[in-house]
Amino acid sequence: MGYAQIYKSWQDDPEGFWLTAANGIDWVTKPTKALDASRAPLYEWFTDATVNTCWNAVDRHVVAGRGKQPAIIHDSPVTATRHIITYAELQNRVARLAGALRAKGVEKGDRVIIYMPMVPEALEAMLACARLGAIHSVVFGGFAAHELAVRIDDCTPKAIIAASCGIEPSRVVHYKPLLDAAIDLADHKPDFCVIFQREQEVAKLTPGRDVAWHEFQYGVEPADCVPVAGNHPAYILYTSGTTGAPKGVVRPTAGHLVALNWTMRAIYNVGAGDVFWAASDVGWVVGHSYICYAPLIAGCTTIVYEGKPVGTPDAAAFWRVIAEHKVKSFFTAPTALRAIKREDPEGKLVPPLPTLQALYLAGERADPDTIHWAAKHLNVPVIDHWWQTETGFAIAANPLGIEHLPVKIGSPSVAMPGYDVQVLDEGGHPVSPGTLGAIAVKLPLPPGTLPTLWNAEDRFLKSYLNHFPGYYETGDAGYIDADGYLYIMARTDDVINVAGHRLSTGAMEEVLASHKDVAECAVIGVADDLKGQSPLGFLCLNKGSNRPHDEVVKECVKLMRDQIGPVADFKRAVVVDRLPKTRSGKILRGTMVKIADSQPWKMPATIDDPAILDEITTALQSLGLAKA
Ligand code: COA
Ligand code: AMP
Repeated sequence: MGYAQIYKSWQDDPEGFWLTAANGIDWVTKPTKALDASRAPLYEWFTDATVNTCWNAVDRHVVAGRGKQPAIIHDSPVTATRHIITYAELQNRVARLAGALRAKGVEKGDRVIIYMPMVPEALEAMLACARLGAIHSVVFGGFAAHELAVRIDDCTPKAIIAASCGIEPSRVVHYKPLLDAAIDLADHKPDFCVIFQREQEVAKLTPGRDVAWHEFQYGVEPADCVPVAGNHPAYILYTSGTTGAPKGVVRPTAGHLVALNWTMRAIYNVGAGDVFWAASDVGWVVGHSYICYAPLIAGCTTIVYEGKPVGTPDAAAFWRVIAEHKVKSFFTAPTALRAIKREDPEGKLVPPLPTLQALYLAGERADPDTIHWAAKHLNVPVIDHWWQTETGFAIAANPLGIEHLPVKIGSPSVAMPGYDVQVLDEGGHPVSPGTLGAIAVKLPLPPGTLPTLWNAEDRFLKSYLNHFPGYYETGDAGYIDADGYLYIMARTDDVINVAGHRLSTGAMEEVLASHKDVAECAVIGVADDLKGQSPLGFLCLNKGSNRPHDEVVKECVKLMRDQIGPVADFKRAVVVDRLPKTRSGKILRGTMVKIADSQPWKMPATIDDPAILDEITTALQSLGLAKA
């Protein structure tokens, strides 16, 4: 069957479609029905089933005779090491770790925060939680102590599993002091912390609270897989919203298993024994779905790459990994390719890659130049696909395992089964093809997508469901063409995308506003050739502040790094007298973005004082932006 038939088969019988997909999973109790609409518009899937994620990702492959197959390849140019873990080894390691966590009191439903770099132990920690039915929340290593503290207070973990350090090309990231500071800052205190000591840095343990990764596993009884209900939360992953408080996206267990398993064949065209690589980080949704869970659920070999696209050691790093480990499907963010293209515009460093069948891009808009460059030099289909932390898998894609549809550059192609994607006007009415609007998905969302936000059902309703009743609001704007191809053009909220990382300008403004000299501020995302967008702050200083502007800017840059973390990549701010606002006091961020990016713009009819835009333009020009 081709894509159109498969999509129609889902439309005709969604229940049957997902129950058939559920056959790819080993159940403890098989689901008798797929959708539970008893609390509509809150939907859940496979609620009468019981299942264990770790069994499906690890143990079942050992039972099926794949024990000797590599499950994880850790390829770490930053430590000059490579390490293979087979499925049988993974099973032992995860069962022992789970046993040790249980011996210290971690049970089904308890939360465990994981704060680790790209080491296999990060995946093992996730899988050990899954084995026990504990709910993990992985925090990206580029977040600072304050962000970690916010997550500790929101999900109140019984334990935190961290590494002693991470390794960035330019420096060692000292995780332990960040962890200690976060626990000091947080109101909630974990019962204990497990520290994975790396050779590059041995951290000082806090007596009575910290245990060492290896030592605490000595002599423990390995844990078996604990069955959980289909709607049991597998994990919480925090993502940026409009305010400083991140949203705790909840991932339901059974839907996650069914949907991810389905995508591996249908979208990525891989199966058991194939090597799959997503060059992301376990701290992001791509890392959860496509470094850890989906490849393992499908019995593939997954690659944990601890390095960068460039500089570790050069722009051939990705191609070396693909060639050496015989990668079949490869997934990365367009930013990474732009970084490579910048250093190797002619593609001279790209060797023949006979095992590679396709390149998948997501996380941000894929610009045509990057797609053309990759298609030319890799000589494989380049597949842009669109999704979000909230959905956990692609909303729109070109499903190579079903049918390679014609590519339209600039479009992540078509809606996947499970998603009835529509473009709506402000009144919530579908618009005609080619017309720009808010992109929404008709409820219910498919299995595996978020059923709610952790401890914040009202916020879930307000953020996603209330604006367009009957729909999930994606927060993206765009259009659908006459052939059903989607085009994602912009966010409709204050979220920006820096190097494929989703960041909240609202959260950044909260940090700037906490500086003692700052009376008012705004943060916008300006176009950046490499990273897609780059944050830029506008600062209005308190009356009477006569501090030199460059000093205040420097302090604000440092404050952002200390509060949110290096991942915010906040390096530029400018002091202005006033901010442009509407008569009702709303800051005109959209207009400032257009001016900064040297795009055509119209004077907003509601602007309070048009002269302010001249001042803003001058300030932007001082930074080399807003070219005439
Ligand atoms: N732990 C600690 N710090 C981290 C980190 C981590 N896991 N990841 C990034 N950082 C730091 C970097 O060291 C850098 O710090 P600096 O300001 O001291 O230099 C800062 O965060 C910004 O990092 P990054 O966005 O990675 O920028 P870069 O200039 O170091 O590298 C690229 C540029 C293009 C190579 C890089 O952004 C990249 O690989 N992008 C692809 C992103 C990606 O895969 N996203 C996943 C979404 S699917
Ligand atoms: P995240 O939740 O961090 O994965 O970020 C999701 C957001 O990234 C989406 O809502 C989009 O704004 C953007 N995004 C992800 N993939 C794409 C894509 N293929 N094209 C355009 N934007 C994308």
